[in-house]
Amino acid sequence: MIDSRIKAVLNLVRSGSRVADIGADHGYLSIELIRSGRASKVIATEKNGGPFEALSKNISGVEGIEARLGDGLQVLSAGEVDTICIAGMGGALIKKILEDAPEVVQSARQLILQPMNGADKVREWLNQNSWIIVDEDLAESAGIIYEIICAGNVTLSQTKIFKRESSPLREKFSAQRLEKLQHVLSEMSKSDTARASEKFSVLQAEVDALKKIP
Ligand SMILES: C[S@@+](CC[C@H](N)C(=O)[O-])C[C@H]1O[C@@H](n2cnc3c(N)ncnc32)[C@H](O)[C@@H]1O
Repeated sequence: MIDSRIKAVLNLVRSGSRVADIGADHGYLSIELIRSGRASKVIATEKNGGPFEALSKNISGVEGIEARLGDGLQVLSAGEVDTICIAGMGGALIKKILEDAPEVVQSARQLILQPMNGADKVREWLNQNSWIIVDEDLAESAGIIYEIICAGNVTLSQTKIFKRESSPLREKFSAQRLEKLQHVLSEMSKSDTARASEKFSVLQAEVDALKKIP
């Protein structure tokens, strides 16, 4: 079942890449990467036994996909893939997976990351390491808007920043984000300590900025 979120991830993958699909679960992204001809090879990984079984079953008969059981990028060697996709996980976990395998990450040319939350953590990590955000997209599925971040490795390739037309989903995304942040701030306001925290000020600043968007 390939929905618009997975399609948006797939559309950012460079044609002909060898791709790692980390936390592949059902394997829909991996399968579509091969079926569409976008990837030349996919290594689909899963940390958990249940999803790994489902993955192995779903990809049986699809040539070009190899399933590996293990944590994050630990089951890959440096130089095995050009593109690393990590979709459908929290930003903190995505960051940890990247941090735990520096050699594999450094040998890749492209990272495509779709955090379910905490996208700021992912952006911060990319900025602090040798990655530059070259493209971004938003996708809506079942009423939820997802951010997809595509980064290029500045040490390996000439990175071209792709200027995408502003997505029609941007306004809706900002409105959803504003609503969520306002709820978080109102909950935090109930505690004096939370209200005095740095996080409160950071979130308040983001709310103020979002309110200024016409
Ligand atoms: C919500 S699913 C997302 C599946 C798919 N990537 C997608 O975007 O539709 C997250 C998957 O990541 C797996 N996972 C969680 N932590 C992981 C890790 N450290 N390494 C590999 N897989 C992991 C989970 O078992 C689960 O199947």
